[in-house]
Amino acid sequence: MDTQVGIVGGGPAGLMLSHLLHLQGIESVIVEARSRERLETEVRAGVLEQNTVDLLRETGVGDRMDREGAVHHGIELRFDGQGHRIPLSDLTGGCEIVLYGQHEVVKDLIGTRLDAGARIVFEAEAVGLRDIESRKPTIRYRHDGEDHELRCDFVAGCDGYHGVSRPSIPAEERTEYDQKYPFGWFGILAEASPSSDELIYTLHERGFALISTRSAKVQRMYFQCDPNDDAESWSDEQIWEELQTRTETHDGFTLNEGPIIEKSVVGMRSFAVEPMQYGRLYLAGDAAHIVTPTGAKGMNLAVRDVSTLAQALTAWYEKGQTKLLDDYSNTCLKRVWKTQRFSWWMTSMLHSFHDDEGFQHNLQLAELDYVTSSQAAATSLAENYVGMVFDE
Ligand code: PHB
Repeated sequence: MDTQVGIVGGGPAGLMLSHLLHLQGIESVIVEARSRERLETEVRAGVLEQNTVDLLRETGVGDRMDREGAVHHGIELRFDGQGHRIPLSDLTGGCEIVLYGQHEVVKDLIGTRLDAGARIVFEAEAVGLRDIESRKPTIRYRHDGEDHELRCDFVAGCDGYHGVSRPSIPAEERTEYDQKYPFGWFGILAEASPSSDELIYTLHERGFALISTRSAKVQRMYFQCDPNDDAESWSDEQIWEELQTRTETHDGFTLNEGPIIEKSVVGMRSFAVEPMQYGRLYLAGDAAHIVTPTGAKGMNLAVRDVSTLAQALTAWYEKGQTKLLDDYSNTCLKRVWKTQRFSWWMTSMLHSFHDDEGFQHNLQLAELDYVTSSQAAATSLAENYVGMVFDE
């Protein structure tokens, strides 16, 4: 099988790339290890920044998001038993965020791609890339117990942190930055009504907690935990106790409880690889970088990567220009590091490090106090949170 752009991975990055290329008349094939059903149901993050919302709308895949997603104009930072609103839209000339699950975006993209006749090979495990330094790189994959090869002009490595793409760049040609944190996030989905109109990020002496939402009936919440915790070892009662304690306010905030329908623990890390390109292989999304979830940037950053890549490939196919392709890695990395910085900063400000006699905690409270009382500081948070960028 041959195509123009071979895409390894059918998450948001791979699907969005395929969609953007299709709109420019460029053909692609996606090779994805998971089943369609798993992709469409796996619970991940759910905050879309303004850029992502705009791109989904402009390219015709925003209808369901506009119907079912919830538009938010602010977030709350809570500490010392008190909430403080950051009015994102007021501080950014009207930018907003939309709460809409990542798997819903994936579902919309898969539907749109398949309706347009796209080739997506589900349950196909990429086993390796070949000849990525040549003009005809190949993706090798296994599907239905047989080996296959996909020859293409370019390979887009959108196969996540554990995929085959990144390690296909020779070790001596890449530099990896890996930052681990001494905590993870315990995430739940609960059948309950929303407790707040906006997301609540809170720092408590016991650690971080986040109150988010998925719909009028399903709520998403997280709290900082030991990264080695087994989700099943926590009873529902313990989970609610922890969330209630961390979100308490002096004026009697009520956190609505309900049956917990999903729970999991994820570790926390920041990761980046340089460069994001080698030969005819271009990395995008989690294959190239992982940001801590506190800034809600993971999927948004992946979408930005493929938007840059689609433009570069279009310039190559339409005009034979290589400049944007040559610049791909540098263009993305500038944004990646800014996003790493923001995510790291949010994480540092809002998690307990339990590593001293409270020095760190007092600095965090001072930082939160500053961010919530200085318009300049609040604007800095808001610009980053909604994804206003100054790099293009
Ligand atoms: C989520 O709703 O899953 C969510 C929201 C905000 C974050 C991370 C995750 O920072």
